[in-house]
Amino acid sequence: MLEEELEIVKNKCLNCQKCSLAKSRTNVVFSGGTANSKLVLIGEAPGYWEDQKGEPFVGKAGQLLDKIFECVGLSRKKDVYICNTIKCRPPENRDPLPEEKTACREYLDAQLEILKPKIILLCGRVALNSFLENSGGITKVRGKWFDGPYGSKMMPIFHPSYLLRNDSREKGSPKWLMWQDIKEIKKAYDEL
Ligand code: URA
Repeated sequence: MLEEELEIVKNKCLNCQKCSLAKSRTNVVFSGGTANSKLVLIGEAPGYWEDQKGEPFVGKAGQLLDKIFECVGLSRKKDVYICNTIKCRPPENRDPLPEEKTACREYLDAQLEILKPKIILLCGRVALNSFLENSGGITKVRGKWFDGPYGSKMMPIFHPSYLLRNDSREKGSPKWLMWQDIKEIKKAYDEL
């Protein structure tokens, strides 16, 4: 049922010509993971490998994301639905433009309306700004719970690309903070 509803939105998205990214994309990247999940992660936009394969988070950042979930016993295939704020790759991986985000928003909104997740993770600055404008920035609000759509709990977390650029695991480092956040997320997930 959920899958069928999502499939209708996906088919519309695969044929989308609403912004100029339609001309440069190889593949539309609609979603990954499982629709049977209480947990949705929203990333930024497809990168090179995602554009090639038509799946979100399959490059280096995605591999790290899988490891982070695995650390607390969550698997991408069985426990998480993954999507992005926009579904086509911006050239040279630049930030999505406001008009691209606006054009693509209907697909993200439809995904959330169909799934009605209990927990939404806003992965990185772009996803954060799509839901919580003027929040003060990812470093300030990561790890905090906010009220999200459809009665969900929403938490901003660091983007794995940022963690790849920051190697330290010292107390207070981005990787250490992510470890605190993923434990808190798993606790909330187990309580659902
Ligand atoms: N970064 C993102 O935000 N999303 C992807 O799908 C891949 C990399």
